[in-house]
Amino acid sequence: MKRFSLAVVSALTALATTASTGAAAEKVTLYCSAQEDWCQVMARGFEDETGIKVNMTRKSSGETFAQLKAESANPKGDVWWGGTGDPHLQAAEEGLTEPYVSSMRSELNDWAISQATSANDKTIGIYSGALGYGYNKDLLAAAGLPEPKCWADLTKPEFKGHVQMANPNSSGTAYTTLATIVQLFGEEKGFDFMKALHVNINQYTKSGSAPIKAAARGETTVGIVFMHDAVKQAVKGFPITVVAPCEGTGYEIGSMSIVKGSRNLENAQKFYDWALTADVQTMALQVNAFQVPSNKGAETSPSAPDLASIKLIDYDFTLYGSSAERRRLLKKWDEDVSVLPQ
Ligand code: G6P
Repeated sequence: MKRFSLAVVSALTALATTASTGAAAEKVTLYCSAQEDWCQVMARGFEDETGIKVNMTRKSSGETFAQLKAESANPKGDVWWGGTGDPHLQAAEEGLTEPYVSSMRSELNDWAISQATSANDKTIGIYSGALGYGYNKDLLAAAGLPEPKCWADLTKPEFKGHVQMANPNSSGTAYTTLATIVQLFGEEKGFDFMKALHVNINQYTKSGSAPIKAAARGETTVGIVFMHDAVKQAVKGFPITVVAPCEGTGYEIGSMSIVKGSRNLENAQKFYDWALTADVQTMALQVNAFQVPSNKGAETSPSAPDLASIKLIDYDFTLYGSSAERRRLLKKWDEDVSVLPQ
């Protein structure tokens, strides 16, 4: 009897120790701004490999940036993975993210590291991709529309009601679009372009890739998105043609940052290192995420857009990644473009 109760006591003690060290409750809260299915793969992959529970929510880049700001006095997130780099740079500038230098850096492309050095190590590049658009060729033919090849084609009167893009306040994709157009055409002509485009827009969505999913379903003819998002729909078998606009285009450095005041900092850093490995970045291919990976050893797909063959602008990440410029451009778009009649 005595031996039995001793065994019970030691078992209970072991249980209590586990509970007090928190070993059973290891977790990390992940704010994810890449495609939902890729976010899921990352969350499950990290849980399976480390046993650390991942609480993941997918929100667009601008929305996550706003959430970090709103939560800054009482941070709830640990890592922000994915989404366009501009809002990550803005979060760094506003002191919403923590510096961290991962031992994985030596395996990364220069563009990923320069994203880090320009933000005092408060963010880092995880993938890259060029902006463009895709169209549903069946709908295009049914409407008797000419094949669009340039940005300018999307402002032609015959495209009225045929074009969809996200809202640049919530979506990093759409903010990249606005910043790209201003860099390509200059401020004044760029805003004239956005006004002419507005007339043809059937809906501004919250998330960046929604317009091309809608085009795949036959709900809009054209969707302005990153080209890899359009390729994904084409690879799935939808009648989507991918366009690299003739005037040239901008691109993103999709990024990752650790939230300032993270309550699970060690696990956040573990996730960060893990996410920079070649094997983990190769997992993107499981969900047809065709961005260019930042780890030089990660695999790419032959279906991925070849950035070297696309006319890319020299995107000014310092200017368009700054908080003041973001506020200024969005205010101008809200006041001068989004309120115009369609
Ligand atoms: C898609 C793209 C990503 C991009 C993200 C931004 O998921 O595949 O490359 O970073 O959109 O999302 P958002 O909803 O902020 O435009």
